[in-house]
Amino acid sequence: MKLGKKWLATLALTIGFGMVAAGCGSGAAPSSGSSGGSGEKVYVVGTDAAYPPFQVLEADGKITGHDIDVMNAVAEAGGFKIEWRNTGWDPLFDGLDKGTVDIGISSITITDKRKEKYDFSDSYFVANQLILVPEDSPVTKLADLEGKNIGVQAATTGEEVVKKAFGDTYAGLKGYDDMPSSVDDFFNGRVDAVVGDNGVIAFYAKKNPGKKFKLVDDQSFEKEYYGIMVKKGNTEILNKINDGLKKIKENGKLQEIYNQYFGNQ
Ligand code: ARG
Repeated sequence: MKLGKKWLATLALTIGFGMVAAGCGSGAAPSSGSSGGSGEKVYVVGTDAAYPPFQVLEADGKITGHDIDVMNAVAEAGGFKIEWRNTGWDPLFDGLDKGTVDIGISSITITDKRKEKYDFSDSYFVANQLILVPEDSPVTKLADLEGKNIGVQAATTGEEVVKKAFGDTYAGLKGYDDMPSSVDDFFNGRVDAVVGDNGVIAFYAKKNPGKKFKLVDDQSFEKEYYGIMVKKGNTEILNKINDGLKKIKENGKLQEIYNQYFGNQ
């Protein structure tokens, strides 16, 4: 197809406008590795902002939460600039693969499988899985959920533990694109239980005081360590991240952020 000059000009204008519009939104950048006005590189940080209190999308479009505060503090201490992009969970990994996202922080557990494709910073948070069940449920451990419908966020460690217990093709496993949908379905009675990260499960439990539920731990649930993720081999930014993280561990800032979100638990 031969493109006329006029058409090309329109196209250029449209793309240009799109970029400006995207830039005005929630601070999204048109592409990874853009530079700020000073020419300094601005790293695009992707997150799935539907994971309270770690990543939250506020009504005004702003992304807030524990991990957001941690990453902002890491960048400040590490001396680099970032901008936020609410990618969602699966697209966050795709974004890192394609290079449209430089850094991922989203309560991501450091796992051997992920380490094949990505590099992780030192850990900034320790977590474990928890089971959300109705208050009168006889469930006291994961094995008791055999035959029941279990909600998880797809492609997470919550899904992994359920698959490990009941098999990869377990018919009762319901994978959701995001965590809130699984919890909604639980409170609406569409799944019997939800398995997910303790901080998030506890948050939803606390947010729904009128509803009758309980949180069940299982001794097979191992400790999970959240890390900040970059594309494999991206040592330049990884070193900056680890440098910033080390500083905020040493100066108490990381603990301060933790206390702000989890101090009263
Ligand atoms: N820690 C779990 C994992 O890494 C779940 C993380 C989900 N995070 C999110 N923002 N939805 O698999």
